[in-house]
Amino acid sequence: MGKDTDARLAEVMSSLVRHLHDFAKETQLTQAEWEYGIGFLTRTGQICSAERQEFILLSDVLGMSMLVDAINNRRPPGATENTVFGPFHVDDAPIRQMGDNITLDGKGESCLFEGRVLALDGKPIEGACVDVWSDNADGFYDVQQPGIQPKWNNRGRFFTGADGRYSFRGIKPVSYPIPDDGPVGQMLGHLGRHPYRPAHMHYLVTAPGYQKLVTHTFVGGDEYLSSDAVFGVKNTLIAPYEHVTNGDTLWRSPFDFVLVPI
Ligand code: BEZ
Ligand code: FE
Repeated sequence: MGKDTDARLAEVMSSLVRHLHDFAKETQLTQAEWEYGIGFLTRTGQICSAERQEFILLSDVLGMSMLVDAINNRRPPGATENTVFGPFHVDDAPIRQMGDNITLDGKGESCLFEGRVLALDGKPIEGACVDVWSDNADGFYDVQQPGIQPKWNNRGRFFTGADGRYSFRGIKPVSYPIPDDGPVGQMLGHLGRHPYRPAHMHYLVTAPGYQKLVTHTFVGGDEYLSSDAVFGVKNTLIAPYEHVTNGDTLWRSPFDFVLVPI
């Protein structure tokens, strides 16, 4: 590297090259395997588009996304843990009123999600934005089925008042496969891995003066909790789902989010 190379770039690149060479030496990589790897990366790039990011999916199924997230979001005890963001968030979802129903297609088992956004000392946070999104009862996000699902189905933003409380109705999410019709799906197949994620509700919780929280709550008992295709499960994020019968609402899932000051 040139003597004027940025110090961080030099550190990252020399480590990357050292580990790449170690990998080839350790496995005694054959010429054919090297060519296969180049072909795989080429196909991964070629399938990328404005709607599809196969390289992030590759990072997700290799556990790299969760590792980078863990390195960069060390939280003190009591704070809610981060997990993978995923490709299905959409900016500027409709702002809804507390208690509103985000499920616009009428499918699925209705669930009340409620809790508080708190600081580490237990005080409620006013003005926090709770941005939520989930798949529908068929296991697809609205953006995967334009023209089939209503726009903004199972999405919304909720702003907390002085009590820090949020509440909305959605559905008890269902497990679903990550997009597996491309090179990453083929790789999972060759490795004998399934493409499923355990059922979860996504949350992006932001508040002035606090670190951004990117997380999910998972449905306890899901068959894929111990084999999430993208390694996103953390035990602290498994939420209760209590059976209730209140009108047509079948479930209640309480969960508090605890944010860390900047
Ligand atoms: C998701 O949960 O939406 C997701 C995360 C990583 C890869 C694909 C989907
Ligand atoms: Fe998801």
